[in-house]
Amino acid sequence: MKTHRFHIDSSSEDQGVIAQAAQLIQQGLLVAFPTETVYGLGGNGLSPESAAAIYAAKGRPSDNPLILHVASRDDVAHLATEIPPLAQELMQRFWPGPLTLVLKKQNMVPLESTGGLDTVAVRMPDHHVALALIKAAGVPLAAPSANLSGKPSPTLAEHVIEDLDGRIAGVIDAGMTRIGLESTVLDLAHGTPTILRQGGVTIEALRAVIPQVRLSEGSHDVHSPGTRYRHYSPKARVHLLSSDNRMVVIQNATSTGKKCGYIGSTPPEVDEIIFLPAIAEEYAHKIFAALRTLDEKGCELILVEPLERVGLGAAVMDRLERAASQDNSESCT
Ligand code: TXA
Ligand code: MG
Repeated sequence: MKTHRFHIDSSSEDQGVIAQAAQLIQQGLLVAFPTETVYGLGGNGLSPESAAAIYAAKGRPSDNPLILHVASRDDVAHLATEIPPLAQELMQRFWPGPLTLVLKKQNMVPLESTGGLDTVAVRMPDHHVALALIKAAGVPLAAPSANLSGKPSPTLAEHVIEDLDGRIAGVIDAGMTRIGLESTVLDLAHGTPTILRQGGVTIEALRAVIPQVRLSEGSHDVHSPGTRYRHYSPKARVHLLSSDNRMVVIQNATSTGKKCGYIGSTPPEVDEIIFLPAIAEEYAHKIFAALRTLDEKGCELILVEPLERVGLGAAVMDRLERAASQDNSESCT
């Protein structure tokens, strides 16, 4: 399959491009599109066949559910059976934006899209191209991040092409995504509201609305299939520096003779350096692209300077820890 690259001005709406892309989706094909977080791989969220095509294109296990993207708050009523008052309040405050809500699903949402679960994850993205595409397609768009399973999420159309060229019908290129880190996934379907994945909306911001909100225990949480899998891994081995291990890790890395890259603001003497100030928003915006760039340059080891775990920094550190993780669980995201 030839993957068509559509270009769209990041501020305007090109109705021609949107209509063509929407038509492909209506035909059951897949089109990657920009959101404010990362590029998503879009298909008809109500079609079991489109869900299967998404899993196949990404090489993703089919028990890891997809997020359905809507263009208005009212659309949620078609997808979820119960919309608690808290969900309404969160939608008012944070939508459009990087917050995904897990709710009990309606029958019309196919189990193929939800990885067999009786819940559905929904979000309204804060990007004019995404919203226009959802409206034109006339259906909610199932859209995981548009990377091959296990790879860092795509923040540029080039990343989508790198991973999925020839496997999908098209990609709408609107430049680099604004936030760069995926949405926060919040479970509202099983008692105490639980953050299943940290992301663009910080825990602090959620606590201001839901004081009792808790963080999932990761792979032990039965309601959080996504955390079972390895994520965000470039080909290179990633080492997260800390004040305790810094000297030793740098020494070990440089003595291996392997090509070594570094991401941060106080670079040691290594082969490739990507300068990133220790500002959470900057890291979020650029970290996935930086990991891909160092891979391309042939680095076998990547040293990354850590961030303080507050605000968006906590979500960035979650991604970096997963990228650095040595466990061999299945790859998927
Ligand atoms: O920012 C984002 O969320 C991006 C853009 C494209 O919207 N999408 C994204 O999708 O990151 P994906 O598929 O890569 O990650 C979705 C996460 C996974 O960890 C998945 O397990 C979780 O959401 N998820 C989806 N539906 C769920 C459900 N019903 N219950 C629990 N977790 C769910
Ligand atoms: Mg993903």
